[in-house]
Amino acid sequence: MKQDELKFALRGTLIHAPAIGAVEILENALLAVDDGGQIAEVTNPGEQGYAELEQLAAQAGKLEELSPKQYLLPGLVDTHVHAPQWPQLGKALDRPLDEWLQKYTFPLEARYADAEFAERVYRNLARTLIANGTTTAMYYATIHLEASMRLAEICLEQGQRALVGKVAMDNPEQCPDYYRDASAGQGLEDTGRFMEQVLGMPGNAGRLVLPVITPRFIPACTDEMLQGLGELAQHSGCHVQTHCSEGDWEHAYVLERYGKTDTLSLDGFGLLTPQTVLAHCDFIDDADMRVIKGADTGIAHCPLSNLYFANAVFPARKALDRGLQVGLGTDIAAGANPGILHNCQMAVTASRALEDGVNPDLPAEERGTAGTRIDFREAFWMATAGGGEALGLKVGKFVRGYAFDAIVVDTDAPDSNLIIWEDMDNGDDILQKIIYNADRRNIKRVWVQGEQIKG
Ligand code: GUN
Ligand code: FE
Repeated sequence: MKQDELKFALRGTLIHAPAIGAVEILENALLAVDDGGQIAEVTNPGEQGYAELEQLAAQAGKLEELSPKQYLLPGLVDTHVHAPQWPQLGKALDRPLDEWLQKYTFPLEARYADAEFAERVYRNLARTLIANGTTTAMYYATIHLEASMRLAEICLEQGQRALVGKVAMDNPEQCPDYYRDASAGQGLEDTGRFMEQVLGMPGNAGRLVLPVITPRFIPACTDEMLQGLGELAQHSGCHVQTHCSEGDWEHAYVLERYGKTDTLSLDGFGLLTPQTVLAHCDFIDDADMRVIKGADTGIAHCPLSNLYFANAVFPARKALDRGLQVGLGTDIAAGANPGILHNCQMAVTASRALEDGVNPDLPAEERGTAGTRIDFREAFWMATAGGGEALGLKVGKFVRGYAFDAIVVDTDAPDSNLIIWEDMDNGDDILQKIIYNADRRNIKRVWVQGEQIKG
């Protein structure tokens, strides 16, 4: 590459998951970022091109060295966040989902009719997620056009890659009078206007922030709304997000209303596309999995949220083995932790509970479901490249042509729980320790599309 096309090059230890279950650790690797923020080259000592890149970057004064105690990881991808629920983090976690929505969540979300309130919350949320290493987030906003635009603008301003949806919910039987779209027609019109406004935001020519068609979940929407949004999805090619077979109540509601599962119902409305992300999918069966795979649709696995609100553990092992595209989601605020690393732990923990079972009154052989565990490697995949795949974005791996979205994990941060013992920890141990013990104190630097947004 030419000197003026090089934005910068970094040398240090890179850790990423180039494939499901695989972890690659590249020591003393050189990674070049081009002037558009894409990864132009990744090369290892002794490989062709290494010395040339080193020389080119050094001569241009654009070579940076990470310290031996720092690790470069792909930026974390959060495929499911409810931005307006941020003030509710850690509250009302003892209630069932339908009551939690009606009594706590909808009253809070209704407050975003006030765009100033939205601004205050959204600024704080985006800053916090970035500090925790989340470089890409797929957000639900609220039904309000203006406040939803504020979220899109704040993400763009703070440099976070974001997919943002104005929530559509118009079913008077399931949504309160004080918080729902005035009609299906109004909700559809606002969704269309929101899509246009996000794509037309000043400074968004590179499409760092994308609009998302967002039917909240089937119970909250009328058939007219689902049909209209499905048509919009089909002809716009825009991303879609919704909740799918999350908990017993919701799953049963859809079976009762349509005589078929969420997956088949959403597919019938044209809402399963390669740009769709289905949150949860805890109760999907084999036929649902085939349809999701056939549609090239992604899944947002939200393990912490599921342990509280879903009545079941998502079968992550099965979904990954069948080739489904699965990312991780915090599901703020049903998931009461903003960190994707924390959700990696929870994904592993939940899968272990599924495999071994949890009822001590049962004999071991009847307690669990054999062959359902995942480990930290698969969790890390979902947190990075798997999330990228689910969103249809080239992020999450250190590969030429992918966006340079990355974090530096500093194992030497003050007051940290992450201690690496040089004589005892090596290889994969370091990644596993990062997943289990790192937090925002260790996330020293964050880049999105080659721009540094933390540190
Ligand atoms: N289903 C519909 N809306 C929501 C929500 O806000 N959170 C969760 N966890 N599930 C939902
Ligand atoms: Fe959710």
